[in-house]
Amino acid sequence: MNCIVVYKTKYGSTEAYARHIAEALGCECVEAKQTDIDKLVQYDCIVYGGGLYAEVINGIGLINKNLDKLSDKKIVVFTTGITPIHYREYYDDEVLERNYKNGVPSNIRIFNFLGKMKLDELTVTHRAALVALKKIMTAKKNPKPLEKLLIELCDADGDFTNLEDARALIEYVKSL
Ligand SMILES: Cc1cc2nc3c(=O)[nH]c(=O)nc-3n(C[C@H](O)[C@H](O)[C@H](O)COP(=O)(O)O)c2cc1C
Repeated sequence: MNCIVVYKTKYGSTEAYARHIAEALGCECVEAKQTDIDKLVQYDCIVYGGGLYAEVINGIGLINKNLDKLSDKKIVVFTTGITPIHYREYYDDEVLERNYKNGVPSNIRIFNFLGKMKLDELTVTHRAALVALKKIMTAKKNPKPLEKLLIELCDADGDFTNLEDARALIEYVKSL
């Protein structure tokens, strides 16, 4: 089975996972902007990685807008984000719903890894977005669990990347 790893990254976390996965699979690794759907259809298996930004998987349109052309492919999507993995409710309800309104297609399998958010590396726009989000959530009288989590996440500062976590994805692709 021929496979390609495609990624979109802003601060490098998704790229680190993408390169690690491609190396383990012995396959090509390209940045999303350096490829297109005409190239992707030449592969049996496409691994796509993107960071989460306000629950949206960065650049996922490359896959989701071309689902008809990719219907006979095995697709593996991985996200990187700072939401702790054990917040399954957050992940299932918010992230999947946000990115797959009609449900996740049967040929797509999704993995979620921890990424990094180092405040001193963030762009001015991203820093301002986090300040605004925190302000909105803090102003809520009876914040829901997800809103409380978001307040906490706005203050996260660190690199939580753990390439070992990609093992499950690698094993899954090898089993296809
Ligand atoms: C403005 C902004 C919004 C973010 N939104 C989320 C989010 O909704 N969920 C999450 O888990 N992480 C979120 N993050 C953290 C990023 O997803 C995390 O830093 C990721 O590793 C970035 O990947 P990249 O460096 O490959 O782009 C956000 C970060 C920023 C700066």
